[in-house]
Amino acid sequence: MDDHEAGYFTEDNSVDVVVARNKNTKDPRLKEVMEVIVRKLHEAVKEIEPSEDEWLEAIMFLTRTGQICDDYRQEFILLSDILGVSMLSDAIQSRRPSGATENTVLGPFHVGDAPELEMGSDICLDEKGEPMFVHGYVRDIHGKPLAGAKIDVWQANDEGFYDVQQRGVQPDFNLRGVFRTCADGRYWFKAIKPKFYPIPDDGPVGQLLGKLGRHPFRPAHFHYLITLDGYQKLTTHIFDPDDQYINSDAVFGVKESLMAEFKPIDDAEQAAKHGFDGSKFYDVEYDFVLAQKA
Ligand code: BEZ
Ligand code: FE
Repeated sequence: MDDHEAGYFTEDNSVDVVVARNKNTKDPRLKEVMEVIVRKLHEAVKEIEPSEDEWLEAIMFLTRTGQICDDYRQEFILLSDILGVSMLSDAIQSRRPSGATENTVLGPFHVGDAPELEMGSDICLDEKGEPMFVHGYVRDIHGKPLAGAKIDVWQANDEGFYDVQQRGVQPDFNLRGVFRTCADGRYWFKAIKPKFYPIPDDGPVGQLLGKLGRHPFRPAHFHYLITLDGYQKLTTHIFDPDDQYINSDAVFGVKESLMAEFKPIDDAEQAAKHGFDGSKFYDVEYDFVLAQKA
């Protein structure tokens, strides 16, 4: 077929003409992907029928989205997050057997070089916030305890900021740590009660949320990245079910199965056992289940 076989471009044959023009690609996956994207994009434009001003506004929005990106800020990922595309893509990539812990978004605040800590350590380095004892087991889908699983955990402080957002204010690696499960699959560490926080909302994505009548908040959560040879990587959170934003997460990351009870305890003996001052702390128990690699 020569380049012109699908004819001159018209409103009616627009998809066929563009798809035909891409036919010489040597990359079959690119061909498939571009065919779907061109088809869906033309369908959207035909349904929306944007005016010239609206089209320019869309172009300028994407331009501003790119312009605000740098080594630390990725506004396109944020856009994908608030449109539910990150969670949809994650759901497709991490289909698991029933019983395995569900995945959710990684988010932009993971760091690759958090320190490996002794089991039971306190990840809170500035003594701010309400103390929390977090514990549970890592097992496979048959209930077998998994020893040596690497648990990389990170959370925001009680003002809703990660250490990397407050360099010089919070100590480096505050509220982060890497643990390895014991022979019986158990893990435990000390932390603080996390708080809801806004995703970065001072750019085009924040403006879009405002125009859509949406808030930018994520409900309180801990992040986990759990890895072990032979098992699928688990990227997930534990959520506080009592958080005011639990049903309206700005990035759609909440799953029913990822809620844990944040149990308030007032018991001096138990607090002392975990090394907390006073008698009050929160207890959070959550077991993770890893799926084997296919
Ligand atoms: C987070 O939970 O760290 C996060 C996830 C998606 C967008 C922004 C933040
Ligand atoms: Fe987060």
